[in-house]
Amino acid sequence: MSFSDNHFIDFRGKTAQDIYSFFQRIQGHDQDIPSPLKRMVHACLIFLEPSTRTQLSFELALKDCGVGVSLLQKNFSSFAKGETLLDTLLNLQAMGYDLFVIRKGEEKETLEGLTQQISTPIINAGEGISGHPTQALLDCYTLFKRRKKNLLAGERVLFVGDIRHSRVVKSNIELMRLLNIDVAFCAPDIFLPSSCEIKIFPTLEEGLNWASVVMALRTQFERHDKDLHMEKIRDLFIQNYGLTTKNLRHFAKDGVILHPGPFNRDYEIASDVLSDQRVAIYDQVQNGRLVRRSLVQAILRQKGLL
Ligand code: CP
Repeated sequence: MSFSDNHFIDFRGKTAQDIYSFFQRIQGHDQDIPSPLKRMVHACLIFLEPSTRTQLSFELALKDCGVGVSLLQKNFSSFAKGETLLDTLLNLQAMGYDLFVIRKGEEKETLEGLTQQISTPIINAGEGISGHPTQALLDCYTLFKRRKKNLLAGERVLFVGDIRHSRVVKSNIELMRLLNIDVAFCAPDIFLPSSCEIKIFPTLEEGLNWASVVMALRTQFERHDKDLHMEKIRDLFIQNYGLTTKNLRHFAKDGVILHPGPFNRDYEIASDVLSDQRVAIYDQVQNGRLVRRSLVQAILRQKGLL
């Protein structure tokens, strides 16, 4: 299996070699103008949860490839009248779309299940709290580019913050296992999964002493009990889990600091840390467009459209 499968939902069936070949194809080709399409091609971005980075970088990536782009959002479509995701996709497929990029929330269908009923390629652009594989790809690609090494095996990635609700962590763990990257968590109990096999550091100091990479995660207040307010936990969180200049004294000089975005500024990460040379947050965003473009190209190639 490779990145030229019909759908891209998760990393099942992929190998480390597939991932590194994919990374190597992107590297050095950022400025290339993609080959022309063999006919008009149309993609529909279906975003049932809010997004800035993923939605717009997919839009740019598709337009880079010459693909026509439509956007369907929950409150401005027949989703608001109760039409299901499956019925929506069947209708859009009948219209002749060539590709779907889907961000879904709590809708009952799973993207994996939909691939059994929809032949038009589906790309997972973030699914509830269960996965966000293109984010994991761009995170690992960012690390790959920073390290200027052929392999990421042996890196130690510490995830800090709202791990329980993070689809980014789930996809990253899946991908990092393939690449032999070691992972660990550091978070208050309410942000940890109810059970897990991943090592947990009780303090940020211990975690940062161990890690070669730290990824801060947004506290997803919208997925917590409505009584959890940022103002109530802010000071304690910043002191114990915030990426502040003071806390980062314990982190490697050649470490890499990531955040998938959006971040709660001066909460998960302090404003003055953003100019630290170890921060690669805007590299992640820049690489997101490249990674998504390369994925779109692989699928178009497989469909004989490129
Ligand atoms: N990282 C990420 O998925 O950001 P958006 O929700 O803005 O797309």
